[in-house]
Amino acid sequence: MNLSRRAFARVVGAGAAAAVLPPLAIVKPLFAATTPPSDGVRLSANENPYGPSPAAIEAMRDAFARAWRYPDESQDDLINAIAKSHAVSRDQVLLGDGSSEILKLAAVSFTGPSRKLVMAAPTFEAIGAYARASGAEVVNVPLDAEFRHDLAKMGAVPGSGLLYVCNPNNPTGSITPREAVRRLIDTVPAATAILVDEAYHHYAVSSDYESVIPAIASRPNLIVARTFSKIYGMAGLRCGYAVSSRETIRTLATQQAWDSMNVMALAAALASVSDAQHVAEGQKRNAATKASVVASLKKLSYDIIPSETNFIMIDVKRDVRPLINGMRTHGVHVGRLFPAMPHHMRVTIGRPEQMEAFMRAFSEVAA
Ligand SMILES: Cc1ncc(COP(=O)(O)O)c(C=O)c1O
Repeated sequence: MNLSRRAFARVVGAGAAAAVLPPLAIVKPLFAATTPPSDGVRLSANENPYGPSPAAIEAMRDAFARAWRYPDESQDDLINAIAKSHAVSRDQVLLGDGSSEILKLAAVSFTGPSRKLVMAAPTFEAIGAYARASGAEVVNVPLDAEFRHDLAKMGAVPGSGLLYVCNPNNPTGSITPREAVRRLIDTVPAATAILVDEAYHHYAVSSDYESVIPAIASRPNLIVARTFSKIYGMAGLRCGYAVSSRETIRTLATQQAWDSMNVMALAAALASVSDAQHVAEGQKRNAATKASVVASLKKLSYDIIPSETNFIMIDVKRDVRPLINGMRTHGVHVGRLFPAMPHHMRVTIGRPEQMEAFMRAFSEVAA
């Protein structure tokens, strides 16, 4: 009740402002949010603190006029642009309300009481919860000693409906080499679906890494998930997508709510797809800031898992939980506990000044 009253007051307040201000003056402050909010140093969710590209913000501003319409045409435009960028046909692309929706659709479509989900430990956990909700058994296969997926073991689990491969992997930031991924894709029976989550694709620079989107042409059971939440800086807008064969996209789509996308996110994503400069800047900033933080931590004798992402995993050589809490008391929010790696702290690479705050707090808390 309270919440809806507050929401009502906000709407009335905005309405009153609208009565006296010209339209652009109302719209502009909404986008001042590319400066980080003042609720501490947020290095906990692998977001991109630089936010969407200027072109995406401009596109959202233009999209205000389309807010009253269902998103059909906006979806079509984005699907066409994504299909073109990956050289696939438009019926091989499915948009999702974040790539989280794609993960959920895959779990609902390909797992169940007689079809297991096989995933690594640790990895991005969400899909495990979705599969359990479908009544599926979830088999966790530990990463190997170099934090790669153990794909030979994952592929050998009997009764699997879906294999989830997160590459690069969250929370370790590590990659699974392309030869191993190719071997898995070539050997898994067609009745088992493989979902390769490439959320951090744009940050990977290792020559051992590759996207598996080209393999979709010959493997109808392969699904690749991508997101606009990371390099494109749109985590709060919610937009992701799947690329797969026509038949698999149709299967996923039957589980999806109609019109699950919104026109703001679609407009921003469309402007982002072709904004190579914004991607290149994001990669450069992340690489430079990451290198500097890693060097500072190494000077303090900490081991860091080589990272192909916008976050790092630090071996703190003791129970990480008190350190996570201690960092919070200094206003610095780092990643949650990952039970399979209780001595590691996951830290998102933020802006240089955020990482300076991180280093100051970390030096005190971990001393
Ligand atoms: C590996 C991975 N996949 C998927 C997601 C979900 O991203 P979104 O739903 O914002 O696209 C995340 C979020 O952190 C992630 O790390």
